[in-house]
Amino acid sequence: MTKAIETDRPEAGLGDGRGAALCADGVGIRFGSFEAVRDISLDIDAGEFLCLLGPSGCGKSTLLSAMAGFTTVDSGSLTVGGAPVTGPDPDLGMVFQSSEALFDWMTVRQNVVFGPRMRGRSRAVQAQLADEYLGLVGLRHCADRFPGQLSGGMRQRVQIARVLANKPNVVLMDEPFGALDAQTRQVMQEETDRIWRASGCTVVFVTHDIDEAILLADRIAVMTAGPAASIKSVYPVDLPRPREESDPAAVELRRALRQDIGEEVRKALRDQGLDPEGDAR
Ligand SMILES: Nc1ncnc2c1ncn2[C@@H]1O[C@H](COP(=O)(O)OP(=O)(O)OP(=O)(O)O)[C@@H](O)[C@H]1O
Ligand SMILES: [Mg+2]
Repeated sequence: MTKAIETDRPEAGLGDGRGAALCADGVGIRFGSFEAVRDISLDIDAGEFLCLLGPSGCGKSTLLSAMAGFTTVDSGSLTVGGAPVTGPDPDLGMVFQSSEALFDWMTVRQNVVFGPRMRGRSRAVQAQLADEYLGLVGLRHCADRFPGQLSGGMRQRVQIARVLANKPNVVLMDEPFGALDAQTRQVMQEETDRIWRASGCTVVFVTHDIDEAILLADRIAVMTAGPAASIKSVYPVDLPRPREESDPAAVELRRALRQDIGEEVRKALRDQGLDPEGDAR
C-alpha cells in the first residue's frame, strides 16, 4: 500500500542542499502587546554561514523561528530562494539547542530517515541516506542504537544528520552546542565547519559564544538588546579557514565584538533592574 507513494525520483520533494539566499526585509514580530523584534533586515547569501549574537532574551530564537516558518512575522517579509516563508518547510532544517528534539522511541537510523520516509522515499533511498549522513557525522556504527544510549554530543550529531538527510538548502541552528562540555563542543564546531563546507548549504547559527562565531562564520550579526530588538552591526570575518584563535585579526575582531555585545548586555541588565555598572568600571 505504501508503495503507491514511494518514489525513487532523485531529490523528489527535497531541496538540492546547495544553499539558498535568505532575505529578511523590515521584519517585526510581536507577542500580543510585546514587541520582540523590529525592522530586522538581513541579506544572507546562498551558501553563507551567518552567526547571530546578542544578549539573552533579545529575540534570536524568535527570529530563527520565524525564518523556519514556526512563527509568523507581523511586518516586513522573509524569503528563502526568493520565495516567501509561509510555514515549516523541509527545505529549511532546524537544529534545536536540546537534543530532546530526537524521537527517543526510534533508533538513530529511523530518526535520520524520518523526513525522507514521511515524504515517501523508498526503503533503498532511506538506507542510502542514513548511511551517507550518519557517515558524515561519524555515527554509522550507532545506527541501531536508541538516542537514550548516546552521549549528548552524539545526540546532537544525530540531530544534525537528521536535518541534513532532508538535503535542506538552509540549516538554522539555535545554540546547538550550548549544553555540551568544552571538549565535545570544540569537536562539534570543527565537525560543523567540515559538514557545512561539504554540503554547501546556507547556515544561520545562533550562539552566545563569540569565539564560536569567529571560528565558524562568514559574517557575524549582532542584535541590540530587546524589546524591539534590531540588528546593531554586521561584521565580516575575513580570516582563512581553519581559523586560528591567535590570529591578530581574530584577536581584534573578538575585542570589537566583546565591546559591541557588552554594551547591549549592560543595557539589557539595566532594563531588567540590575546594575551592571560594577562590571563596566
Ligand atoms: N511565545 C512567546 N510569547 C511571549 N513572549 C515571548 C514568546 N517567545 C519569546 N518571547 C519573548 O520575546 C523575547 C525574545 O525571546 P527569544 O527567546 O527570542 O530570545 P533569545 O535572544 O533567543 O534569548 P536567549 O539567548 O536567552 O535564548 C523575550 O523577551 C521573550 O520573553
Ligand atoms: Mg534563544
